[in-house]
Amino acid sequence: MERILIKSGVGPASEVCISRGVLENLDPDLFSPTPLGVRVAIITQPGVAANISRSIQRMFVASGVRAEVRLIPDRDAAKTLRVAEECYLWLNDLALTREDLIVGVGGGAATDLAGFVAATYLRGLNVVQVPTTLLGAVDAAIGGKTGVNVDAKNLVGVFHNPVRVIIDPCVLSELPHELIVEGTAEALKCGLIGDPDLVRLYENEGLGADLEEVVTRGVRVKALAVNEDFKDLGRRAVLNYGHTVGHALEIAASIPHGHAVAVGMVAAGTASQRMVGFGDCKRQRDLIASLELPVRISDVSLDAVKRYIDLDKKRHGGEIRMVLLEKIGQATIATVDVATVDAALAAIGID
Ligand code: GLY
Repeated sequence: MERILIKSGVGPASEVCISRGVLENLDPDLFSPTPLGVRVAIITQPGVAANISRSIQRMFVASGVRAEVRLIPDRDAAKTLRVAEECYLWLNDLALTREDLIVGVGGGAATDLAGFVAATYLRGLNVVQVPTTLLGAVDAAIGGKTGVNVDAKNLVGVFHNPVRVIIDPCVLSELPHELIVEGTAEALKCGLIGDPDLVRLYENEGLGADLEEVVTRGVRVKALAVNEDFKDLGRRAVLNYGHTVGHALEIAASIPHGHAVAVGMVAAGTASQRMVGFGDCKRQRDLIASLELPVRISDVSLDAVKRYIDLDKKRHGGEIRMVLLEKIGQATIATVDVATVDAALAAIGID
């Protein structure tokens, strides 16, 4: 089993455990690294995640721990204050205490919501995250960012490091093809900002790349950035490569997060070429396209995208901040000028 530590700077480190079959041969000790109370509350989404949750529930019950499962809606419909409140009321009914445990099982939205509930209920109790999508396994469930959407995405949230993150590559390899493609955008991002071997793996193996290796390499890149800057005040921002334009597209064009990040990385590649002489713009674009991810976007207006980029600018003291690539595997954060943003948007078909 691969174990990767993610430090929070304040509390104990979170341990990311990656192992094939770990969710088939369940072991209660993996879920309760600290002495466990008498209850476990499992928050999950419908589908595969719910089935895995029932197995986790059976495992706890067999070991004498009371475990209950609560279904929340799929995708971002889960990430609301109303759903969080419904979970608090459910936890009241279970009479959960601070010695008990919350387990989040599902995609990024489920683990974001479960983490937020765990961070805020009774001022915080332990959470174990079990991401069941590639996107969740390489990004959302790792590093302690939790939150809900209030008007905009992730506007309300808390940093709350999970005590464990448990990832089973066998579960990920059974995902529907479109979810593997979507998660590949975030996994590739990790390679582009910090692991050239992961980029080469994708170039050689395409979507057939071994998911255990992909996830392990991706989590290592994320762990480096988070361990340096848990509260996201500096270096952690490199994880947002492709996200300045990507977030704008996700909202303005209503496309899935992974697709938006893929197109956003193409835009960021062009900005990197102009600002810091990145020489692999075409190589990056060709790779993204070969992974069945979009590299351009139609049906979205320049004005709509710029409105969202301007909102981001307001949050950064009037400057447009972007993550740029100096070369594959080496990222930097810089202020970019309007002409560069325009060129980056033109490169993805928005002009
Ligand atoms: N998803 C970016 C981060 O965790 O900072």
